[in-house]
Amino acid sequence: MSVEQRPEIEALMAESRTFPPDPAFSARANAQPPLYEEAERDFEAFWARLARERLSWSKPFETTLEWELPFAKWFVGGELNVSYNCIDRHVENGLGDKVAYHWIGEPGDTRTITYADLLAEVSRAANALRELGVEKGDRVAIYMPMIPELPIAMLACARLGAPHTVVFGGFSAEALSGRINDAEAKVVITADGGWRRGKPAELKPAVDEALRETPTIEKVLVVRRLGDRATQCPMQAGRDVWWDEIVPRQPPDCPPVPVESEHLLYLLYTSGTTAKPKGIVHTTAGYLLGTSFTHEMIFDVKPDDVYWCAADVGWVTGHSYIVYGPLANATTGVLYEGTPDTPDWSRWWQIVEDYKVTILYTAPTAIRAHMKQGPQYAEGHDLSSLRVLGSVGEPINPEAWLWYHEHVGGGTAPIVDTWWQTETGMIMITPLPGVTTTKPGSATFPFPGVDADVVDGEGNPVPLGGGGYLVLKRPWPAMLRGIYGDPERYRETYWSRFPGMYFAGDGAKRDGDGYLWLLGRVDDVMNVSGHRISTTEVESALVSHPAVAEAAVVGGSDAVTGQAIIAFVIVKVGIEPTKELGTELREHVATKISPIAKPKSIMLTPDLPKTRSGKIMRRLLRDIAEGRALGDTTTLADATVVETIRQNSGKSED
Ligand code: PRX
Repeated sequence: MSVEQRPEIEALMAESRTFPPDPAFSARANAQPPLYEEAERDFEAFWARLARERLSWSKPFETTLEWELPFAKWFVGGELNVSYNCIDRHVENGLGDKVAYHWIGEPGDTRTITYADLLAEVSRAANALRELGVEKGDRVAIYMPMIPELPIAMLACARLGAPHTVVFGGFSAEALSGRINDAEAKVVITADGGWRRGKPAELKPAVDEALRETPTIEKVLVVRRLGDRATQCPMQAGRDVWWDEIVPRQPPDCPPVPVESEHLLYLLYTSGTTAKPKGIVHTTAGYLLGTSFTHEMIFDVKPDDVYWCAADVGWVTGHSYIVYGPLANATTGVLYEGTPDTPDWSRWWQIVEDYKVTILYTAPTAIRAHMKQGPQYAEGHDLSSLRVLGSVGEPINPEAWLWYHEHVGGGTAPIVDTWWQTETGMIMITPLPGVTTTKPGSATFPFPGVDADVVDGEGNPVPLGGGGYLVLKRPWPAMLRGIYGDPERYRETYWSRFPGMYFAGDGAKRDGDGYLWLLGRVDDVMNVSGHRISTTEVESALVSHPAVAEAAVVGGSDAVTGQAIIAFVIVKVGIEPTKELGTELREHVATKISPIAKPKSIMLTPDLPKTRSGKIMRRLLRDIAEGRALGDTTTLADATVVETIRQNSGKSED
């Protein structure tokens, strides 16, 4: 494996503009430079102080950290409840009338949910779950659109000490059943559907299909979002229960169940380098501390801010920075159901103007999609309330950074480019607004207490100016505790490449000033619109189609989505390689995994370049994919491609 040398990174690092903090901002900033010094002096003492000050414990912890590499236990001996920390204590402190979420449905319907409302709703939902048989330790799968019942369901689970596993609503029935089975979930919480691009999008049929193969599921709780608009929401007697028939009749109080610091809070499945998604394990106290503290520092969140993270709650960004971090900080957040282009590209900017959003957190792919439409949509709205902007999910190219800065941030709002992963739970590399001088395209420095480094193939730190692999060298409170049910895979995936270090799977460079620049994945994981998709997972979906003999998938560059999925497919003898077959294969992948995993282009080819040992030479395929502007459709391999493939096959190892 080698870190790819990408010329655009060299160009990007030559970007000379720097953006020092505005002194007026610095004077009021939550984050101050001594944080770095305190954390470096003694990182355990640093996190212990914060855990005592910031979290409400029903039993104080005794030991800050038990570290038996690679297994960490934080705040051992302590007991607490996440739902209490995110809701009850704020109501007890007089913040019951403060808005927790301004929710905006895609069709334009809205709901305002205060912390007092949230307490009552979460308590009722928790009581309903209990009536359905959910107890501490039982796993609950959640498969929902972006409606208020989604965070309510998560918090209701946390209130009972029942771990949840949220499956993004865009995933297929098959992906859902795989996750339910791995987690051995007892209950599914879902909805009849949601609104997407102006149309109702049903969800329950996928649940019904998934549940044909999930022996552990006993009950299904269904929110009525579409109502009459759902053409088919059959309810199975004895198994399926409407939310509005069981939740509203529950008492609005439900004592939070105290759990140990290391109690499983949730599982979140993410793609690795094999076909089987990994259930990333996140536990209670360390996760809540890591997410809430980073949220307050990195976004400079103040009591009167209106914070909008435009991700879907189904991804880790939503878990950490829409639900747990912000609510633990008693933040007012915006929750939007739909897409940025519905009814047109001014939708987001209208929301910012209407709700006077002060902090916006989104992904480079969304910024590039807005850029492509032109600045007129943003310029047509009053965005002067925005004072901090965030970016996450993939490297942000300087053009997108500068566009965001100018057209969204009015040339003044600091931009925080935040690097982290499902596994890290919290932001790990980021500027601190008011403290860090930023460079467009660089995620800058590790967060206080985080020890990140760039190492060569032997694990030695590279000198300033050099590139290599990104590693993390000490435990942090929100870190994954493992892969569910598979400690060996956990050790092997993250801790075996460089002994004693966490290998993130990303390449990175450090410039002459010590700034970190992320270079993207160095493994067989693609990043499409900020979503992690494994090449192997798409390949195995393709070969599960009866017409396919062999498939190889690579990520090619894409101006909007960062990477695009390009598939090379050899069909079985006797099968006609037609364009229609290409379309069918793309649909097949959407059904097997999700529409987000659909290859942008499929090349039906008679041959694949392989090494003598039979390994597919992906680098060559990437060259072919990138060298030829492959369209959105199926491309039949022509003589030149076959020639290139033939000429190069067997020449070098990938
Ligand atoms: O490659 C990195 C990229 O996204 C990966 C993690 O994906 P996921 O677990 O889905 O979490 C995404 C949201 C936290 C990383 O290994 N990535 C994430 N943020 C950045 C990034 N790459 C460059 N810059 C970032 N700010």
